[in-house]
Amino acid sequence: MTEELPPVPSRNLPLSARAPGKCIVFGEHAVVHGAPELAFAVDLMTQVFVTPGSVSRLNADAGAEMHNPYFRAALELFWKGRPPVEVRAISRVPRAAGLGSSAAFTAGLAAVLSSATGGVDRATLAQRSFEVERTAQGVGSPGDTSTVVAGGFVAVNGGRGEPIWTIAAPDHRWEVRRVDDPGWVWVIAYSGIPRSTADAVRAVSARLAAAGGSELLEEFRRVATEGIDAVDRGDRPKVAMLLERNQELLREVGVSHPRLEALLEAAKPAAEGAKLTGAGAGGSVIALPVPGKETELVRRLARAGALPFVVRPTRDGATLVEG
Ligand code: MEV
Repeated sequence: MTEELPPVPSRNLPLSARAPGKCIVFGEHAVVHGAPELAFAVDLMTQVFVTPGSVSRLNADAGAEMHNPYFRAALELFWKGRPPVEVRAISRVPRAAGLGSSAAFTAGLAAVLSSATGGVDRATLAQRSFEVERTAQGVGSPGDTSTVVAGGFVAVNGGRGEPIWTIAAPDHRWEVRRVDDPGWVWVIAYSGIPRSTADAVRAVSARLAAAGGSELLEEFRRVATEGIDAVDRGDRPKVAMLLERNQELLREVGVSHPRLEALLEAAKPAAEGAKLTGAGAGGSVIALPVPGKETELVRRLARAGALPFVVRPTRDGATLVEG
C-alpha cells in the first residue's frame, strides 16, 4: 500500500516551515545516473520564515536573488509575478557540508510558497523541491530533496513495495520508496572543508563516462542494492562491510579527500564501517559506531579536527509550522 503523507495545506503569509538535514548511506553520485541510493533525514532542522516585504530579501540581503541560485530558482519557478517576500532562514546544518543544507532550505521555502499558492500534495512538493535544486545546481538527482521532504529512511531506485512517489527529469526517472529504520545510532562528522556539489557531480560524471565507467557504475549499483537490503534486514556486519566498499568506489571516482581519509582512519577503532557522505571532495563522513563506543568515536573524530554529531534518523519531513 502506498503511504499517505500529509499534504501541504493552503495558507496565507506570513508562514513558516521546517525541514531536516539528510545523510546518504549508500549510492551518492551513482544515483545521478539512475543507480540506487539510501539516505535518511537527520534531526538537524532548517527553519524558513516568509512574510510579505517591500523587496524580496533573504536574511536581510536584497541581493540574494542575484547570488543565491536556490532562492532565485524558487522565486522564479513558483512565485513569478507575485508580491515581494522577506525570507529568513535559520539552520543547524553546516553549509556545503554534504548534510543537505541546500535541500532543507529549498524544501522549506518550496513548502511555504506552495502553501501560499493553494497547497500541494507531498509528491508535488518533492518534485518542486527537486526542480529548484536542479535549476540552481544544473545537475543532480532528487535523492536529497526527496529525503528531506519524506523524512525517515528513503531508497531511491531501490527497496521493496510501492513507490511513495516518482520524480521525473528529461534524462531520468527516480522511484522513491520507504525503508524501515533499523533503529541504529549513526555518527556524522563535518571535515570543515566546504565543497561544490555541482563541481563534484560533473567530475564524477566525466569519470563514469570514461573507459571502465560503466563497470564502476554497475559496482555502485550492486553495493547500494545490497546495502538497502542489509539495512532492511538489520544486518549490521553486512552494512559495515558495504560502507567500506562504497568508500573504495568513491575514492576511485576521485571524490575522497586527504582530510576525509584522515577522519576515516581516526574513526577505525570505534567504527564498524565508515565512508564519506554526500558529494565528497570535502564535506562529511558517516560512521556506524561499534555499539558502546559512540562517545569514543565522537572524541576520535573531534580530536582529528572534525565537527561530529551523534544523529538519529528523524521521521519528520519538510512541514509547515502551524500556530
Ligand atoms: C549530494 O548530496 C548527492 C549527490 O549524489 C548529488 C545528487 O544526488 O544530486 C552527489
